[in-house]
Amino acid sequence: MSAYPDPLNKVLVLHGPNLNLLGSREPDIYGYETLDDVNNALREKAVLAGWELNCLQSNHEGVLIDAIQAARTDGTRAIIINPAAYTHTSVAILDALNAFTGKVMEVHISNVHQRETFRQHSYVSLRANGVIAGLGTQGYQAALDAILRAAGQ
Ligand code: DQA
Repeated sequence: MSAYPDPLNKVLVLHGPNLNLLGSREPDIYGYETLDDVNNALREKAVLAGWELNCLQSNHEGVLIDAIQAARTDGTRAIIINPAAYTHTSVAILDALNAFTGKVMEVHISNVHQRETFRQHSYVSLRANGVIAGLGTQGYQAALDAILRAAGQ
């Protein structure tokens, strides 16, 4: 038996551009909860399950890609990602996720399928194990539930 405790299971939550404005940005579409509210609720659930949860928001594609690449080797078992507008444009984020071997859950706060045509295609969906759209910020909780359940928790 190792003298060291098992490392915690880790999940990474990535938020794409403009999601730092959650709570004040188009609240009729995205609601009034802030990104801190979302992240804190997720962390609470993860900690109860004995998981470490790390969150990152960036308005820059390369920063998100760097974080996905780092997740390949730092023990991260799953990524929850709302790529925001990069959902519909970024082959580079898709490629980075394709190089990650853990679970990927794609979350959209709004129901992108009821919105403009350009929002109805997602590059990330080609890789995602699950896609949640239209549940508001509860979608993030549903994604974490799915990850924990798949891990037997
Ligand atoms: C979004 C939907 C995207 O089309 C949009 O660009 C966003 C947020 C959502 O969570 O509903 O920024 O990903």
